Amino acid sequence: MIRPRRNRRTPAIRSMVRETTLSPADFILPLFLHEDDADTPIDSMPGVTRWSLDSLVREAGEAHALGIPAVVLFPKIEEALKTADAAECHNDAGLVPRAIRRLKQAHPTLCVITDVALDPYNSDGHDGLVRRDERGSLTILNDETVEILCRQALCHARAGADIVAPSDMMDGRVGAIREALDSEDFTDVSIMSYTAKYASAFYGPFRGALDSAPKEGDKKTYQMDPGNIREALRETLLDEAEGADMLMVKPAGIYLDVIAKVRETSTLPVAAYQVSGEYLMIKSAAAAGWLDERAAVLESLTAIKRAGASVILTYFARQAAGWLASAS
Ligand code: PBG
Repeated sequence: MIRPRRNRRTPAIRSMVRETTLSPADFILPLFLHEDDADTPIDSMPGVTRWSLDSLVREAGEAHALGIPAVVLFPKIEEALKTADAAECHNDAGLVPRAIRRLKQAHPTLCVITDVALDPYNSDGHDGLVRRDERGSLTILNDETVEILCRQALCHARAGADIVAPSDMMDGRVGAIREALDSEDFTDVSIMSYTAKYASAFYGPFRGALDSAPKEGDKKTYQMDPGNIREALRETLLDEAEGADMLMVKPAGIYLDVIAKVRETSTLPVAAYQVSGEYLMIKSAAAAGWLDERAAVLESLTAIKRAGASVILTYFARQAAGWLASAS
């Protein structure tokens, strides 16, 4: 009789036939920062902190020492610096460029990734520039936004970013950013494109962390409809043609089918973002004693990798890297 259970009989046999394994090199750690000497716990994301620059550098160093190759930066910008043209996003003396320089100086081998989008800088809280017509209805301007995103990407490149990650979902931004980077000799700066970023309820806790929720309207005219997957493949083909180096699917755990399809459709590496709401679901269930946190986290990350992700952006990166180091 054929008995599949023989391959599950002992830990040794299971470890030989395991198809997907995790390592700290699979993780990108998202880090929040602000213009303040104190570190602030983020209410909407228990266990996650908004760091001062000094602490950010320390935190990134500790993560890197655990084998995590990269961090991605999310700034909370002071209300007074937010404007309708989001000009602070390309200020060379701004918070993000200063953080990049400090990180690269302290940890030269750490890969520093930046988020390219206007929402933390925009008084409207949208990822793009907003126009309001006489009747008060909002339009998110595409091409005008792309111009500013190019300036933002160049500002991050000048500060030393290794990878810029446009999370705005405007059309044509990958090609435009590639051209802008190349024209200023930043041919080695990579683009990790948020290829299939869905208009998801699971970003709620993140927007609380940065005070970056849209003041009016929603993001459905640029982020994707959760019901669509063929559209994700259309975005995949476009990002590839426009010169993206890596693609991303976001959220991750509830979009495993999209990860698998994007992976099949492109030869580019696929990243997946386990977003704040996914983090919070596990974290709060574990805090209530209803889930085994370690087991649930490692299982969720394994599933994302099994679906086809080469790398995972996750708020659990540090914890998971620690667990993997002590895994039996
Ligand atoms: C904004 C951005 C968002 C996230 C990453 N970049 C929020 C949004 O699009 O509203 C969400 C990350 C998370 O929920 O963990 N450009």
